[in-house]
Formats: sequence, C-alpha cells, structure tokens
Amino acid sequence: MSDERILHRARPTGTQVTVSRSYDVRSDDDLLTVRHAVRAATVECGFGLVDQTRVVTAASELARNAYIHGGGGTLTVELLTRPGAGGIRLVIKDEGPGIPDIAAAMTDGWTSGNGLGHGLGGARRLMEEFHLDTRPGAGTTVTATRWTTP
Ligand SMILES: Nc1ncnc2c1ncn2[C@@H]1O[C@H](COP(=O)(O)OP(=O)(O)O)[C@@H](O)[C@H]1O
Ligand SMILES: [Mg+2]
Repeated sequence: MSDERILHRARPTGTQVTVSRSYDVRSDDDLLTVRHAVRAATVECGFGLVDQTRVVTAASELARNAYIHGGGGTLTVELLTRPGAGGIRLVIKDEGPGIPDIAAAMTDGWTSGNGLGHGLGGARRLMEEFHLDTRPGAGTTVTATRWTTP
C-alpha cells in the first residue's frame, strides 16, 4: 500500500506540448485573428462551450494588454496533453515597458490608462494556472493554462 503511494507520487506528470502556434498582436485585426485562432484551438482540445469562452476571453484580454500597454507582442497557443486530460497554454509576450507595480496591476478596477482594469485579474480567474513575468524596461510575459476536466 505504501509502496503504491510512493510510486504514484513519483510518477512524472507527463505533460506534452503537441502543437504550438504563434501570432503577432500588433493591430486590431491581429486581436480578431487571435480570438478566432484560440477559439478553434479550444475546440480542437475538446473544451465545452463555457470553457472555450473562458479561454478566449482570457487570451483576448492578455493579447489586448500586450498590444495596448506593451506596444505589441506575440501570443503563442500550445495544445497540451497529460494523462487523462488535454489542455491549452497561452504565452503572451511583449518587449514593452513592463509592469512596475504588479499588485496594483492585478487589482480589479485598477488601470494606468482608460481601461476598465479587469483584464489581468479576470484572465487569472478564468485560467487555472497563471504566471506573470515582468520587469520595468524588460517587457512582460504572461503564461496561462487551463485543463479539460477528465
Ligand atoms: N503587457 C503589459 N505591459 C505593460 N503594462 C501592462 C501590461 N498588461 C497590463 N499592464 C498594466 O496593468 C494595468 C491593468 O491591466 P488590466 O487589468 O488589463 O486593465 P486595463 O488594460 O483595462 O488597464 C494596465 O492599466 C497597465 O498599466
Ligand atoms: Mg487590459
């Protein structure tokens, strides 16, 4: 019994990236392209309609941030598999000014411009894993993942 638990804990998670596609986010047209591409990817992954919309909304907000606040960047969509589930990982990267105050930026309703200030916080809630890597002057990369429920 205890052996079995140890084996179980030691088993690698086995996440694999099966497909990776990158898109520029440098114009309003690009934002539209990204929405359609991410929607298609969620369908490919087997997400239901509600989860499709969650992932597309998160991608849309993060891509818009890279475009508006980061001066343009890229969105990479990765299709993932792990035992018993599929998933989608969004990597949104720009080489803009970075985010000086991450806590403020993550706060709902806080915006440095004329936005609504719900993009970052909303995207974090819509995805299951969320990682923000940013440094003033060195750009911003957000990595966000959602898994299909087995
Ligand atoms: N990629 C980015 N580069 C620089 N600053 C960003 C980026 N993404 C978000 N921010 C900062 O975080 C704030 C909050 O983002 P968000 O919640 O999406 O609200 P909004 O975009 O409506 O202002 C933005 O106003 C901006 O100051
Ligand atoms: Mg925003």
